[in-house]
Amino acid sequence: MHRLICVLIVQLCCVSCAPSFRATTLPRHALGPKGPEGFIHGVASGDPQHDRVILWTRYTPRDTRRSVTVSWVISRAPDLSAPEASGRLTTTEARDFTVKVDATGLKAGTRYYYRFWTESFLSPLGRTQTLPTGHVERLRIAFVSCSNVAWGYFHAYAELAERDDLDFVLHLGDYIYEHADGVYGNGSEIGRTPVPNKELISLRDYRLRYAQYRADHASQAVHAAYPLIATWDDHEFANNAWVGGAQNHSPASEGDWAARRRSAVQAYYEWLPIRSNGNLERPRIYRAFQVGDLARLLVLDTRIAGRDRQVGRDDPALRAPWRTILGIAQEAWLRTELREAAASSRWQLIGQQVLFSRLSRADGTPLLTDSWGGYPAVRRRLLELVAREQLQGLIVLTGDFHRSVAIEVPDETRAKQDQAASLAVEFVAPGISSPGHLDPEKAQEDERWLRGHNPHVKWIEQLQQGYGILELTHERARAQWHLFSDVRSPDRPPMTRPAKVFEVRHGEHLLREVTAQKPADGGP
Ligand SMILES: [Fe+2]
Repeated sequence: MHRLICVLIVQLCCVSCAPSFRATTLPRHALGPKGPEGFIHGVASGDPQHDRVILWTRYTPRDTRRSVTVSWVISRAPDLSAPEASGRLTTTEARDFTVKVDATGLKAGTRYYYRFWTESFLSPLGRTQTLPTGHVERLRIAFVSCSNVAWGYFHAYAELAERDDLDFVLHLGDYIYEHADGVYGNGSEIGRTPVPNKELISLRDYRLRYAQYRADHASQAVHAAYPLIATWDDHEFANNAWVGGAQNHSPASEGDWAARRRSAVQAYYEWLPIRSNGNLERPRIYRAFQVGDLARLLVLDTRIAGRDRQVGRDDPALRAPWRTILGIAQEAWLRTELREAAASSRWQLIGQQVLFSRLSRADGTPLLTDSWGGYPAVRRRLLELVAREQLQGLIVLTGDFHRSVAIEVPDETRAKQDQAASLAVEFVAPGISSPGHLDPEKAQEDERWLRGHNPHVKWIEQLQQGYGILELTHERARAQWHLFSDVRSPDRPPMTRPAKVFEVRHGEHLLREVTAQKPADGGP
């Protein structure tokens, strides 16, 4: 091992002595399956805990019939001297030559650097960090969703990679999209045609799509810079998925849903730096992350764990108590976790896919039935728990909507006229590249209508893509949205300024807009 480290250090000096997390020299367009040999999909880390973190890479071999042995090392020093842990493992075609290591025995709240290598190739350098324990003054994270290669460039990823002030990146789903080009986004117009250019059905399809997304230079940069905490939404499977099918799945022409779902899960587990339960039939990705005494993050799976089929807004079954978006086991887990988080942590964060707060039409029916609005009984049960346990710091972080939104979550346990009181706040991420509205006039009209019927929506922006930053201290939480005027060009435009900032003081559940400015420490 010692000799290998020496060889590695020599190689490091040849390749790059200074860690860089900016855009790599990889081309912006997709690399096909016949790309060059080596670590061409970069490195990633994820699911940090106080003593461990998942490290990820993929080795692209010339000969896919042979196995490949990959070594790894993690160290607190950027030059990887004094390794904290190291090892070696073999990967094969059976796992698409991906490599995943759970690096354990690490120190809490510590920044680390890592690399992989084979006899002939050296991976890029990755940076990651563990979660802290004990008293924690501040947490700053990015929350993102809906990265669609055909809709545009991942400028949000590129900008996040250049920051040096985040603890981790939270991806709330739609990490890939399943469509052929032209179905949802015209990638061919901007040199980003989906690979393969067909709807994803088989394991090979899903693997190739992940390989394309991970060939993107901005994606590689953000993964090399920060640990990722990810959960899937529908497009990692098919549009409007639920446990037994999807709106965009036709058994007659596309085969068995369970087989497609299994393929999607396997490719996700292979390509995402996530700790997996190894069960393709019953995957479990709902899980918790403790950030000292400051916060506990509960990451949900509102898609595959147990969601019942969506019904129309006028369907009498909509409000049935047995209809679930979580499944029985996940709801029980979440209830226990919320109680424990209320006792142990100043803030209780829920990271999940679809809009949580009630959004209604004029007649009181839900605006969206693929979100929690389509499963009101589960939401009401959870809000009853939040009210009874007097949770003082619940924040819901949401993806899917392709809009930036700040919402006070109405207290639905009270009579309608008393629901001005709120029990939590919800912050919604814009798409990384998936668009909200394309027509500014229509967006304005929609906003007037939406806020007229839903006064708890304090702000909504529907035209731009980007990312959100959440910063927590013991006194307050602050969310800021960083938006780009254009994601169709490879050239990153200057960020729209001033970015919108909303603040909630602990225990108040009320949103205040604060003047956006760039603090001396660079964030949030
Ligand atoms: Fe999406």
